[in-house]
Amino acid sequence: MDRKTFYITTPIYYPSDKLHIGHSYCTVATDVMARYKRMQGYDVMFLTGTDEHGQKIEEKAVKAGITPKEYVDNMVSGIKALWKLMNISNDRFIRTTDHYHEISVQRIFDKLYEKGDIYKSVYKGKYCTPCESFWTESQLVDGKCPDCGRDVVEAEEEAYFFKLSAYSQKLVDYYKEHPLFMEPQSRLNEMINNFIKPGLEDLCVSRTSFSWGIPVDFDPKHVVYVWIDALTNYITALGYLNDEYHDFEKFWPADVHFVGKEIMRFHSIIWPALLMALDLPLPKKVYGHGWLLIDGGKMSKSKGNVVDPVVLCERYGVDAIRYFLMREFPFGSDGIFTNEALINRINSDLANDLGNLISRTVSMIEKYFGGTLPENLKYGPDFAEDADVIKIASALRDTVAKNVEKYAFQDVLIEIMKLVSRCNKYIDETAPWVLAKDPENNSRLAGVMYVLLESIRIAGILLTPFMPDTSEKIRIQIGAPSDIYNWDAAAKFNVRSGNITVNKGDALFPRIDMAKELAALEANKKPAAEPDPEITIEDFMKVRLKVAKVVECEKIEKSNKLLKLQLDDGNGIRQVVSGIAQKYSPNDLIGKNIILISNLKPAKLCGVESKGMILAATDKNDVPTVIFADPSLEPGSVIR
Ligand code: ME8
Repeated sequence: MDRKTFYITTPIYYPSDKLHIGHSYCTVATDVMARYKRMQGYDVMFLTGTDEHGQKIEEKAVKAGITPKEYVDNMVSGIKALWKLMNISNDRFIRTTDHYHEISVQRIFDKLYEKGDIYKSVYKGKYCTPCESFWTESQLVDGKCPDCGRDVVEAEEEAYFFKLSAYSQKLVDYYKEHPLFMEPQSRLNEMINNFIKPGLEDLCVSRTSFSWGIPVDFDPKHVVYVWIDALTNYITALGYLNDEYHDFEKFWPADVHFVGKEIMRFHSIIWPALLMALDLPLPKKVYGHGWLLIDGGKMSKSKGNVVDPVVLCERYGVDAIRYFLMREFPFGSDGIFTNEALINRINSDLANDLGNLISRTVSMIEKYFGGTLPENLKYGPDFAEDADVIKIASALRDTVAKNVEKYAFQDVLIEIMKLVSRCNKYIDETAPWVLAKDPENNSRLAGVMYVLLESIRIAGILLTPFMPDTSEKIRIQIGAPSDIYNWDAAAKFNVRSGNITVNKGDALFPRIDMAKELAALEANKKPAAEPDPEITIEDFMKVRLKVAKVVECEKIEKSNKLLKLQLDDGNGIRQVVSGIAQKYSPNDLIGKNIILISNLKPAKLCGVESKGMILAATDKNDVPTVIFADPSLEPGSVIR
């Protein structure tokens, strides 16, 4: 018989040099879910990846003086390294720059155009560049982007549109027939009230003002709107309309998309409408989790309040961070991240409760039995102290399973830790150190140890998806063979016979000194500037720097950052586009000598060709100031 399948996804992340702990949150939750399902015997597909096209990325690459592809390649390797560090068990990683994905997106666009769901018209409206989102006037909040609160710009251009408006009623009907499509339930009300009721407008799905995107196959001056490109990753990664993979039939529709609440709109309105247009089934569920907040707001690199998951994992261990993320915050709600909460949680749950239980139990078995329990064990529900522990341990797997189905990760951990705490209490109740005084009590003392070992075994198995490495260390310490350390065996208390040999190991979670750690973390917020990576003189000599004179200069209409300059470089006139319009108007520059990188590969910015780059220094707000060269220098003078 074929195994049951389970397909789960994270959002695909924007390439960035530092994903913060808020980004890790969603990926860890997805990983926990995928690991549970694998443990339960499902054939799991866990997909994550990166969302690499769009104007924002093009601009960042230009600023860094490299091509967008070079830029995303650098960032993506960092993201992959982070997921590896955090023990993320994704089965597949999609990059939207993967060739097969690009081909599929073009085919999807063609298909919708041929069906009439995509048509050509003129776009007039507001655009939020950082969010890459189009908004209608009525959707703006105080004239600003409703997602990020930043300024929007006017935009008008020939564009393709997706007939989203035609799907309004179909979506409402679908939500009614599938009341669990969106979770938590509050998200459904938000979507209906904020987006569906005011009326869905057709969605602009192509852009011509920049080129870093997937070209529309039959009209290549247009690139596909980045959200259409991004959302379709969930099916292209399975091989929809491409030959790279062949699991579309097997895994689609997805069991669940985990997404942050701010991108619920894309996943619960636009994505289902696209799928309806493609005559494909909809995902079974979209779960909109909450945000981790800090300093009263969402973590964001531009606000400088991000918490680095690499630093936290290195200091406290990956499993402690995974545990904290899943235990501290209910999955559907926002939560506030503080270092105090993290350290408290590690100390109370992991060091005091879990770690202590295991080390006490193993130490007692070593002390009283030389590390191996005898055959003869006295324990069972007839002993008043045992009854409660055995009952909780025997029921735990089913309680966990119910909460896993509801994505209630916090409740799963609360239930597991109830057993752990109950066991610590059981040690106090049975007082093994008193039993040990009389050899008559030997088999009862061994029975008490056995009850502890069995409870730890069950807790350890059920903790595996949250803390895979710790769970394995627990298995080794309690001397449990792998064949009784799995989902089936977690349903049964009493699967081991006597003669169990334990293996004392290091403390799983050493206690943390709160004051010392807080000081260290605070110091970590202001890391010493990293030394600049060295290059050789040969590397430097590859860069041709020359003096050039600005002879003409004008604004680029579609952008509020870019100026188009005509430069005399000593050999003739060349055109360069530069992101300096925030500080300079054309007249400030005409006649001035600047420094030109003359051998940079030509690139298109906002659709305008640029041959080279001019040097500027940026202030702390990233506003560039041009480095002018002495007016007496001839255009073409070589700079060394
Ligand atoms: O949105 N707390 O990418 P992204 C919790 N490329 N979650 C957070 C968070 C925080 N402080 N900050 C970010 C995108 N996230 C698109 C997705 S999917 C087809 C395209 C979550 O890198 C955020 O909510 O900006 C989102 O779910 C995920 O990180 C990726 O964010």
